[in-house]
Amino acid sequence: MTPVQTPSIFAPVSTPAFAIRELSFFVLGITAVIFVIVAGFAIYTLIRFGRRPANPDLEPAQVYGSKQIELAWTVVPFLIVVVLFLVTARYVWGIERRAQPADALEITVVGNQWWWEIRYPKLGIVTANEIHVPVADARPTPTFFTIQSVDVAHSFWIPQLAGKMDAIPNKTNRVWIEPRQVGTYVGQCAEYCGLQHALMLLVVVVHPKDEFQAWVAAQQTPPVDQATVTAGRQLFSSLACINCHTVRGTGGNGVFGPDLTHLMSRSTLGAGAARNTPENLRAWVKDPGAFKTGALMPAMKLDDTQLDQLVAYLVTLR
Ligand code: CUA
Repeated sequence: MTPVQTPSIFAPVSTPAFAIRELSFFVLGITAVIFVIVAGFAIYTLIRFGRRPANPDLEPAQVYGSKQIELAWTVVPFLIVVVLFLVTARYVWGIERRAQPADALEITVVGNQWWWEIRYPKLGIVTANEIHVPVADARPTPTFFTIQSVDVAHSFWIPQLAGKMDAIPNKTNRVWIEPRQVGTYVGQCAEYCGLQHALMLLVVVVHPKDEFQAWVAAQQTPPVDQATVTAGRQLFSSLACINCHTVRGTGGNGVFGPDLTHLMSRSTLGAGAARNTPENLRAWVKDPGAFKTGALMPAMKLDDTQLDQLVAYLVTLR
């Protein structure tokens, strides 16, 4: 599962994103006509009047105002702006007024410096940086997001699925998607939010409905304790890890960092900073700053044996 697509608003797969593409083409169409007219006149003038013998006695015609021309270049742009405004307002209204159906999937997305907490309040699932939703095919099942932030302003954006929505502290915003196509869609934080704004990536995996149910069931199951990794598990609970991280079914219930209950089900570490492999995980725990300067997780100063034990435990969190 490697997200490789280039996120583009011109390749929408979800209802609000279709509308955004339509509107974009409309605006681009109008501005293209303006561009062709202006550039056409400029080029015509350059060619027609660009080359003629210098004649110090010849003075160009002196024009001191023209009501008709001035009215034309005031009224026409004004009308264009009014049209753009009204059409845009209609699209925004159309997207925002959509009422949430009773059976819609609800997800709360919380922006953090620099990762996304993903909560499914009705399903009891908490994860990070990777959103799983069912496809809206025969019977449309939209997903409604509640967007929040715990620190600074972020912006939630998956270009192929919906428009941008700001994540603002002490405010709740809403955005919805209705993806028509199974696949993996990439997104990112779209509001400068500090040092690692660029490494605040998002993945949305759109599943067939039965596959989505299987994902939900797997996420709801607490990880199985494996006797072979007892040392690592004890290390995890005796260190400061549990002050920030939750692993359901253990003493770890910190909420400052990502929930690690099903850590290995996710494809990346540090919100897209590195692929989630045991080697990268070890390097990450050793020093998160090596992947992501400024990451709030400290290097825990563990020795090699401790690192091996801890990572052996973490990779069982599937
Ligand atoms: Cu969060 Cu930019």
